[in-house]
Amino acid sequence: MYANSRVPQSAQTGIHERLAELVDRHRREPFRKPVLDYNRAAFDASMAAWGGASNANAPLILDAACGTGASSVLLAERNPDCFVIGVDQSAARLDTEKGALPGNLCLVRADLVDYWRLLAERGVRLHRHCLFYPNPWPKIGHLSRRWHGHAVFPVLPALGGIIECRSNWRIYVEEFAFALGRLLGREIAWEAFVPDEPVSPFERKYRDSGQQLYRCEVDLRDLRSAA
Ligand SMILES: C[S@@+](CC[C@H](N)C(=O)[O-])C[C@H]1O[C@@H](n2cnc3c(N)ncnc32)[C@H](O)[C@@H]1O
Repeated sequence: MYANSRVPQSAQTGIHERLAELVDRHRREPFRKPVLDYNRAAFDASMAAWGGASNANAPLILDAACGTGASSVLLAERNPDCFVIGVDQSAARLDTEKGALPGNLCLVRADLVDYWRLLAERGVRLHRHCLFYPNPWPKIGHLSRRWHGHAVFPVLPALGGIIECRSNWRIYVEEFAFALGRLLGREIAWEAFVPDEPVSPFERKYRDSGQQLYRCEVDLRDLRSAA
């Protein structure tokens, strides 16, 4: 049945007690995992698409973990003056977005753990950075699989842009705001919201299941370097 999706169940009742320590460690210690060739190739292809588009080098929107890319198509249609790159690690999901894509959109298969670091290495600054409904990893022991608990997280503020994380798990968004605030040295707000029109398939499914949705949005466009 379609509209019967459940909110992630977790033994956690608030921000993970080890999150602050983990974010501090990731900020202190360089993340040395080598970048894989297929991610570098995907990155280069997406940069070439951005540079070769009719609106070449337009402000860049990154739809991080875009799933089928439906949200990327919507972002491209709503922002014709921008170029949108949708990144997902699943070829099967990306393949579901059939038909002609808008000229200001490129979908690529890559692991964001490498893709984000390549963007930072190249000095790319984003206009918008969307993290819509990341896998929640609600088990207590899975903190380091959530984006804000991952070693790559300190790279994200360095990419600038208006960064937005949405989830149907309140704790995920609370933690995201807490971890980002820890890196930036200020308190970051988050909120419950109701989407007018769902931006992605997961948002539609959660909304149609009557779930409360949460988001954290922060303007990092003036930030020079936080990583
Ligand atoms: C819950 S789905 C959300 C998809 C889409 N954003 C939406 O709202 O409909 C999470 C997506 O994250 C992708 N993903 C997870 N880890 C990833 C990684 N390291 N790099 C790229 N994509 C990843 C998965 O393949 C999956 O498509």
